[in-house]
Amino acid sequence: MSNQHEAKARKWFDVWADSWTFRRLGPWLRYVQRQVLDRIDWSEATAVLDVACGSGWATMEAARAMPATDDGVVCGCDLSTGMLARRTSGQEGDAEARFAAASAQALPFHTDSFDIVFCTAAFHHFAAPLEALHELKRVLRAGGTLLLADSCRDQSLGANVWDRLHRWFEPGHVKYYSRDELVELVGAAGFSNLEVTKLVPPFWQTKKLSRHVVLFRATS
Ligand SMILES: C[S@@+](CC[C@H](N)C(=O)[O-])C[C@H]1O[C@@H](n2cnc3c(N)ncnc32)[C@H](O)[C@@H]1O
Repeated sequence: MSNQHEAKARKWFDVWADSWTFRRLGPWLRYVQRQVLDRIDWSEATAVLDVACGSGWATMEAARAMPATDDGVVCGCDLSTGMLARRTSGQEGDAEARFAAASAQALPFHTDSFDIVFCTAAFHHFAAPLEALHELKRVLRAGGTLLLADSCRDQSLGANVWDRLHRWFEPGHVKYYSRDELVELVGAAGFSNLEVTKLVPPFWQTKKLSRHVVLFRATS
């Protein structure tokens, strides 16, 4: 079931990577990613993972923000090779990040590898959400930080309407969770110190009708 869903999602995102809607959504996605990146204490970060990184914009921003030490590492992973192919890394003089084609439900990283794991605008695609959260926790070191940002269907009319539409036409969409469902899932995966912040993307910045986002910050 999960594998079938992932196959459909991968196919959808491989095509979507080159689409007009992906470009149109850009400012809104960047807004959410920027909110997450701004909440990371870069002086403390040594190993950072961007799960379901898409075209890797936030992964590369993380690599640029990371203090220049020999053991710092920034990784991004995504199910869709089409999305990963759009990444802009590899330019001369740019910071370095490593990318992998992988599912959030089977991360190709050792246990206790990262001190920060973040995931933006993607959790609603995961067919086995609790399994994915367990994976995110597994690769985080004890005391590491999870930052998870996604639309919640009970937090704005825009998200509620989009949830219904996406369930109907988007193969990769599972559902936008309610705020309380996500609180419960994050707790059930064993995270603690949960902080929940509602983000309201400003229309002038994202040129999008309000599709509010909820940011969950928790400790492994
Ligand atoms: C709306 S895009 C968001 C991408 C990026 N995080 C951002 O904020 O721009 C959702 C991404 O989730 C990825 N995705 C969907 N299901 C996934 C899964 N099970 N594991 C890993 N990535 C997945 C898709 O391939 C797609 O790139």
